[in-house]
Amino acid sequence: MSTVLITGASSGIGAQLAKDYAAEGWQVIACGRSLEKLQQLADTSEKIRPLAFDVTDFQATKDALGDASVRPNLIILNAGTCEYIEQGKVDVALFRRVFDVNFFGVLNCIEALQPIFTETTHLAIVGSTASYVPLPRAEAYGASKAALSYLVNTLKMDLSRDGVTLTLVSPGFVKTPLTDKNDFAMPMRVTADYASKKIRKGIAKRQSEVHFPPLFSGYLKLLSLFPMPLQLAIVKKMTGKTK
Ligand SMILES: NC(=O)c1ccc[n+]([C@@H]2O[C@H](COP(=O)([O-])OP(=O)(O)OC[C@H]3O[C@@H](n4cnc5c(N)ncnc54)[C@H](OP(=O)(O)O)[C@@H]3O)[C@@H](O)[C@H]2O)c1
Repeated sequence: MSTVLITGASSGIGAQLAKDYAAEGWQVIACGRSLEKLQQLADTSEKIRPLAFDVTDFQATKDALGDASVRPNLIILNAGTCEYIEQGKVDVALFRRVFDVNFFGVLNCIEALQPIFTETTHLAIVGSTASYVPLPRAEAYGASKAALSYLVNTLKMDLSRDGVTLTLVSPGFVKTPLTDKNDFAMPMRVTADYASKKIRKGIAKRQSEVHFPPLFSGYLKLLSLFPMPLQLAIVKKMTGKTK
């Protein structure tokens, strides 16, 4: 039987993935902090089982994921948060909050699940196209996702001997509670339904990276090849940043 474990399944992209994998016949272990939201999700399908814990709490993560009933073939580490810095002011506490969820939260889950990895395990980690080029105010968020991208690529080497498959998922803007808070233009923002389709298709094909929407992610990938001063000039123009 195929089982998928999804973190950040109580909202946005993760909730959509949970519903869609359940509809495809997978057993779904839906993780998040809010048991209430996870229970509402589980009420939509008998295939969805809620598992509440905070990914920033290593012991809680280890206790939840170390349970003998948790045996996923596919693991999607999607839980994440976003905070922007204001007026160029570095706020270390903000950086720590963002890295705690986006980077160390992923590491906590990997360490907790590593004892049950097999040659059929597929590990997908949700980064962001924000890691491709520097974006204004995204110092903390972009750096946390760039760290994830490096982590996934190195794990591709170091876990390959165990047969573990790794996929980096790099979404552009997706309409979710996370981006509903943004007060700036979000070009080519797609729905969570679109994101779920792209992610499931890429994972099924065992792609090394899934990025979307292609016009947006392809443009940023191309931009990332330019010399840095040119990247910065183009991003400033694109985002209307004058100074
Ligand atoms: N939306 C976009 O445009 C976009 C673009 C690129 C990448 N992404 C990435 O996609 C992923 C999902 O984002 P989304 O847009 O779907 O956001 P969302 O709707 O805000 O969902 C975030 C999920 O992460 C969970 N979460 C947050 N902190 C957690 C913690 N400490 N412990 C456990 N779970 C935690 C939340 O669950 P609880 O609140 O129940 O804990 C929620 O289920 C994130 O990694 C995000 O960075 C999103």
